[in-house]
Amino acid sequence: MSDDNNDEKKFRSAAWFGHADRDGFLHRSWMKNQGLPGDLFDGRPVIGICNTWSELTPCNAHFRTIAERVKRGVYEAGGFPLEFPVMSLGETLMRPTAMLFRNLVSMDVEESIRANPIDGVVLLVGCDKTTPALLMGAASCDLPTMMVSGGAMLNGKFRGEDIGSGTGVWKFDADVRSGAMPMCDFIEAESCMSRSAGHCMTMGTASTMASMVESLGMGLPMNAAIPAVDSRRYVLAHLAGRRIVEMVREDLRVSKILTRKAFENAVRVNGAIGGSSNAVIHLLAIAGRVGVEFNLDDWDKLGRDVPCLVNLMPSGKYLMEDFFYAGGLPAVIREMGDLIHRDALTVNGKTMGENVAEAPCYNREVIMPLDEPFKPHGGVAVVRGNLSPNGAILKPSAASPELMKHRGRAVVFENIEDMHARVDDPALDIDETCVMVLKYCGPRGYPGMPEVGNMPVPAKLLKRGITDVVRISDARMSGTAYGTVVLHISPEAAAGGTLALVQNGDMIELDVEARRLHLDVSDAELERRRAAWQPPPVPTERGYARLYIQHVLQADRGADLDFLVGNSGAPIPRESH
Ligand code: FES
Repeated sequence: MSDDNNDEKKFRSAAWFGHADRDGFLHRSWMKNQGLPGDLFDGRPVIGICNTWSELTPCNAHFRTIAERVKRGVYEAGGFPLEFPVMSLGETLMRPTAMLFRNLVSMDVEESIRANPIDGVVLLVGCDKTTPALLMGAASCDLPTMMVSGGAMLNGKFRGEDIGSGTGVWKFDADVRSGAMPMCDFIEAESCMSRSAGHCMTMGTASTMASMVESLGMGLPMNAAIPAVDSRRYVLAHLAGRRIVEMVREDLRVSKILTRKAFENAVRVNGAIGGSSNAVIHLLAIAGRVGVEFNLDDWDKLGRDVPCLVNLMPSGKYLMEDFFYAGGLPAVIREMGDLIHRDALTVNGKTMGENVAEAPCYNREVIMPLDEPFKPHGGVAVVRGNLSPNGAILKPSAASPELMKHRGRAVVFENIEDMHARVDDPALDIDETCVMVLKYCGPRGYPGMPEVGNMPVPAKLLKRGITDVVRISDARMSGTAYGTVVLHISPEAAAGGTLALVQNGDMIELDVEARRLHLDVSDAELERRRAAWQPPPVPTERGYARLYIQHVLQADRGADLDFLVGNSGAPIPRESH
């Protein structure tokens, strides 16, 4: 402890480190066992570096290096960096779904920040759910916060072709099931797809959420696009470390950045990049934490007329590495012109407009002009009707235009096991006009709302060259997936939504232009079915999953836990000894 620092202001951490008494001794002495010089406790800003590194989260496995680069920047700027772990969420391994744990991690982050001597925080995020989880937690503390995404993998390369994370898997799987690809080629493609550090390199959920970070103003320019292994990713981390110290001195808190304008910008950018449908649920949850009025209809209203400018898989052809070389998100935002609130504040202290004013575009095949877009509609469509009174969503840029208005016979799968057991059964009574229906995959029902909404097209249809049919469910789908897929039906089947009452042979009408999803069954018949409906057994009786099932909100409200909505700031808790 000393008074030599240049900060006249007392920061939060001074309540721990700033007292020449027994408690100050306790707080400093044990920290010094790490070899930390005494002058680090002189009242300078303490920067928490919240790390989601884990070998079980391969997308974030390079984060220890990124954390070191953030620390360099923090030290340079006169701060005191302290790295801490939180539970990591790996999309590819966690069962029943990483989404089940998003809210748990947000609690881990929130409580870790508030309970410790932290004045500002850098969130290291990458794999899908790590981004919303960490931002939700930090937003509930409302300290100065900077996000650093880990960057995407290099383009997948398979026999001279570019292949995209996830998107390639869905395609190869269909090829194997239709007989077009031998299993040995399928296995070979595994290592060709994921060939460097980083997260999925399609415009899947991770790339989308990294773009949301940037468009919300919570990350530095180019946060989304720099590949994980490009040296400039480390430069960005270094600069983020420098900047967070300034943010603490400026008291530039989350709530000053995450305004209504920031969310409107993010919705529109999501349309322009053909972003993941998962952004819908995550942004709703984040807005709930900062108390910004923002709902499902905003997604439709704000994103409806935004054209898709970015030609990336799964909607298009290219991958994140190409996106970076083409100019990245600043080039897209600049191209969007008046669709963006240019006066929205960002973490570097500049406005969004200032950040992108000179942003160049180097490849017009990857980032297309606003007046000659890649696709006319990039946003998310919100459809309602007796099947989804509180809304359901569909991503038009990934759907088949000829199926956007469709009436078809329901082929119902009562749960995920039923779907897996029968989808490739040659006896399945289905043709290309049918609507596949999957139940009990919502937040409460699965539990955790997994990415199974893009049900595989039945093999008997694939063999006839049919690659898309209308599919509806209360599940989510991977941001790397594609097809005419209606998702996030609310209320979900397990909450007694109409979805639970659909039977084989019912007629279902989807009209995306009219924003309508209708089950063509009379109200009287639905009431009869509802009276006979039995809720499914609760899948678990204890632990976090039980808490989750009891408190999770429906998809149209972001699937946060009801008692986590809002924020408590970061008041200094009582002394511990
Ligand atoms: Fe981690 Fe896709 S699996 S980002």
